[in-house]
Amino acid sequence: MMSALMRLGVNIDHVATIRNARWTAAAGGDHPDPVAAALLAVTAGADGITAHLREDRRHIRDEDISRLMAELTVPLNLEMAATDEMLAIALHHRPHAVCLVPEKREERTTEGGLDAAGQAAALVPIIAQLYDAGIRVSLFIEPDLRQLDAAVRLKAPVVEFHTGRYAHLSGAARAEELKRIADSAALATKNGIEPHAGHGLTYDNVAPIAAIPQLAELNIGHFLIGEAIFTGLADSVREMKARMAAAR
Ligand code: PXP
Repeated sequence: MMSALMRLGVNIDHVATIRNARWTAAAGGDHPDPVAAALLAVTAGADGITAHLREDRRHIRDEDISRLMAELTVPLNLEMAATDEMLAIALHHRPHAVCLVPEKREERTTEGGLDAAGQAAALVPIIAQLYDAGIRVSLFIEPDLRQLDAAVRLKAPVVEFHTGRYAHLSGAARAEELKRIADSAALATKNGIEPHAGHGLTYDNVAPIAAIPQLAELNIGHFLIGEAIFTGLADSVREMKARMAAAR
């Protein structure tokens, strides 16, 4: 049976990484501009834009979020740590969605899922305030039962399964991780939660994930921005969407 089409959220963090390699916030330069990249990705078929405002502002900056909110015609998914500072920023901008992610200052990228089970008490008031502001809350979790159970208890409308382990494994271990993701997606749907997935996805590894029928959205960044060096961003977004559609 054909599955419903899957949305692609394009993560533009690493356009900002390249910009910041040359332009400090004070220096005022803005090339390459992550907002221009977001608008281009949308013309190429991106269904949404994802941006992670990190505590140390290593890529996306506060003014990028303001401009994305003003200029985007598709939903903005704001990735952020569950902190008071980030909560205030989200409540100020009211993006379509907030994806709560774990954040460690020393990590190079988001290295694992949120411990929704261990941090449930701290997450309750944050999720409640986002919910009251009309923001769709997503929890970025590992595809395991304990975390999914916590997401159900926290009444999260969306979970995003961390595909980093899947992306880095091979052979039988990868197949096993793929099954964990597929089983978790089915269980999420059964519990009324919309499952998404992302992290480490590429042209070569996206198809088995895109074939999981319950997954409604993938969020992909690093590979698309890297590939854009060779083919341009519009092409890399179009090609990824074509591969996702072919897998359904
Ligand atoms: N989803 C979440 C929650 C993430 O933190 C990231 C990385 O910032 C991504 C998706 C995209 O991962 P990648 O850049 O590896 O495609």
